[in-house]
Amino acid sequence: MPYLDEGDGMKKVEAIVRPEKFEAVKAELEQVGIKGVTVYQVEGRGEQLGMEFTHRAGKFRVDMLSKVKLDVVVEDKDEQKVVDAIVRGAKTGEFGDGKIFVSPIQRAIKIRTGEDWRYAIEP
Ligand SMILES: Nc1ncnc2c1ncn2[C@@H]1O[C@H](COP(=O)(O)OP(=O)(O)OP(=O)(O)O)[C@@H](O)[C@H]1O
Ligand SMILES: [Mg+2]
Repeated sequence: MPYLDEGDGMKKVEAIVRPEKFEAVKAELEQVGIKGVTVYQVEGRGEQLGMEFTHRAGKFRVDMLSKVKLDVVVEDKDEQKVVDAIVRGAKTGEFGDGKIFVSPIQRAIKIRTGEDWRYAIEP
């Protein structure tokens, strides 16, 4: 069956947030009815290449910072709702608040029931 790259279907919203904001993000997602989520502990860097600290002994740099990554796969209609919920939970306004990436998902299978959801060009 042919796949469409885009269109009516599903999106994966990947978000990288501050670990201390994870609980707030989780609560915001729950608030808008999002149930399924995968979470990873990750390390990363952004525009500032980590963070510089000043100490008595001088300056030092931590070039990879601990972050939490979330994957949420939703129907297209819920994409913006998920993005908004993540931003509400994760934003402080300071450098390092994180990033959100959205991409199309072609197929999702629920193992228990065999429910199989894929993008297909209408016949
Ligand atoms: N271009 C990117 N590709 C993949 N991951 C990224 C990218 N930019 C940031 N990240 C991930 O997001 C985390 C948080 O990044 P951060 O919020 O510092 O982004 P930023 O672009 O530097 O924004 P800000 O200027 O607000 O700090 C990083 O630790 C990294 O894991
Ligand atoms: Mg940054």
